[in-house]
Amino acid sequence: MGYRITFLPDGRTVETAEGETILRAAGRDGIHINATCGGKGTCGRCRVILKEGKAVSADSPHLADKDRAEGVRLACQTTPASDLTVEIPATSQMRKGSKIATGSRLEEMLAAAYGACQGKFRPVTLKFHLQLPPPSLDDNISDFERLKRGLENSGYNAVSVRAGLSTIRKMGSVMREKGWSVTVTLLEEGNTIEVIDIEPGDTSATRYAAAVDIGTTSVVVYLVDLITGKVLDHASAYNTQVRCGEDVITRIVYATEQGGLSELQQLVVSLVNELLGKLCDKHGIGRELLDTAIISGNTTMTHLFFGIDPAYIREEPYIPTAASFPVLGASSVGLHLKDTAVVYAMPGVASYVGGDITSGVLASGLYKQPGLSLFIDIGTNGEIVLGGEDWIVTAACSAGPAFEGGGVKFGMRAMDGAIERVAIDPATLAPSLTVIGGSNPVGICGSGMIDAIGEMFLAGIIDRRGKVNTTLDNPRVRIGENGPEYVLAWAEETGIGADITLTEPDVNNIVRTKGAIYAGFATLLKEVGFTFADVDRIYIAGGFGHYLNIERAVIIGLLPDLPVEKFEFLGNTSIMGAYLALLSKKFREDAEAIAHRMTYIELSVSRNFMDEYVSALFLPHTHIDEFPSVKKLLG
Ligand code: FES
Repeated sequence: MGYRITFLPDGRTVETAEGETILRAAGRDGIHINATCGGKGTCGRCRVILKEGKAVSADSPHLADKDRAEGVRLACQTTPASDLTVEIPATSQMRKGSKIATGSRLEEMLAAAYGACQGKFRPVTLKFHLQLPPPSLDDNISDFERLKRGLENSGYNAVSVRAGLSTIRKMGSVMREKGWSVTVTLLEEGNTIEVIDIEPGDTSATRYAAAVDIGTTSVVVYLVDLITGKVLDHASAYNTQVRCGEDVITRIVYATEQGGLSELQQLVVSLVNELLGKLCDKHGIGRELLDTAIISGNTTMTHLFFGIDPAYIREEPYIPTAASFPVLGASSVGLHLKDTAVVYAMPGVASYVGGDITSGVLASGLYKQPGLSLFIDIGTNGEIVLGGEDWIVTAACSAGPAFEGGGVKFGMRAMDGAIERVAIDPATLAPSLTVIGGSNPVGICGSGMIDAIGEMFLAGIIDRRGKVNTTLDNPRVRIGENGPEYVLAWAEETGIGADITLTEPDVNNIVRTKGAIYAGFATLLKEVGFTFADVDRIYIAGGFGHYLNIERAVIIGLLPDLPVEKFEFLGNTSIMGAYLALLSKKFREDAEAIAHRMTYIELSVSRNFMDEYVSALFLPHTHIDEFPSVKKLLG
């Protein structure tokens, strides 16, 4: 028998199915509860507070006796035994975020991209008007032959023209409806041209398309006018798949469970439809005017979008079902566009270097530049590209989710309530905090963690091994329930009624994450016989990058100790690449060539990587000489 659960603070009520957990019931109705492990009971992030009613809960090491006494339960391990009222505390909520990055230099780059394509737009499909001569007894070829002849007169090779049955079925009436005036939509693939749509009259002056970035954390949609090439508007939201797990591995595991793959596919497609719907409504554009969508995402997100089993991505030797995809019908994946609309996916390279990275290389221009560029995208995974106009190598390091909040006691994503900046007075050890949204803090996000660890290190609160100096006589440095810790905010200053701390295990997790990323850079350089001194520029992509304090990132040894002028924040290059590919055939060809050219290096089997990783598990690094500016700071 199902029960009703009322969720506070919003007061929304959902009906549960027999035996369904609170997490599942909430997710089915679009109520978000953080669920890093996707409901496996291992992350302890889905805490809720039972206010009324009875429920059955599995025991969990994530709950202390005090928590249980206060009604705290893990939503994924708790099933109602009566109607319930449940509070979702601030730490378990997906809070409104002002930090879904659409890009720091995006406006500027969009203008440049637009300039590069202007007058040469060549979207995935071509649409143009034909005025055909009507048939007569002297000119009695079939309608399809007449159309082919019209296309031939427009410069196409009639022999290569194809059409599907649905197009041929409507051809006869459409051609006669407006006196043999028709608009055709063509899809060019290799040497063939397929007529994918035929409409009466001249409809070629209005057409729209969508560029979509499907990130593990957030989804961004651009609505583009295909006649002018301009971005009309954009919309973004957190990827609703997050409730099935925060990182790609958890989602792959979720996809392999009963009904998991179709649930994940529906979640992301529904979200894209919803965002597109909002944009179309806002601009008074009918969905039937959208004829193309380009998606850019990592390999797992792309598999899930198309409903392809991603299981093999996670099994050695880590093989995706497809890294690049043919142009497909948008309706076949459930996108609510024009019936005949198509979807093109940015081509990827390997299981952990996907279309989003190809987009990044395309958007940064790295593939056309002389000298040596390093491109990094730090998100739930760390992807690295190194190279230039002659060669490109790439790798992915499973950095772990620390910078997204995973494995850090008060860690959270960059959203309202997150501490994003930290400065520590070395004399008093008192911090000054900047919180996203300006409210009292509820946790700390990646940029805040980097600042905090950098400042703690400089202030002597932690040593080079990340150990807290418990001999310091200061109330902010103490032994907590998880070991030594530093208090960032006292309970009365926070939005959660508890002290927000950074514990020694948190510091260790963050050091492991930064170590894996730095080791990735170092290994890639070593594999091709270069050093950091040879790197001419470093592009930092992804939402995280924009808020990163480069000096602090160097102090902790996340980024190499190079002059600040060599670093450039690019913002969301995944959406940028999709936009470029939407406008221009040349950029689509470049993207295909980039994916083909990039040599993927598997770090998990690299001996160099393990050595570099171990060396990078210090602040800033075992070899302090690699960080001369930090060495100088430390005296
Ligand atoms: Fe419940 Fe992870 S413990 S989602």
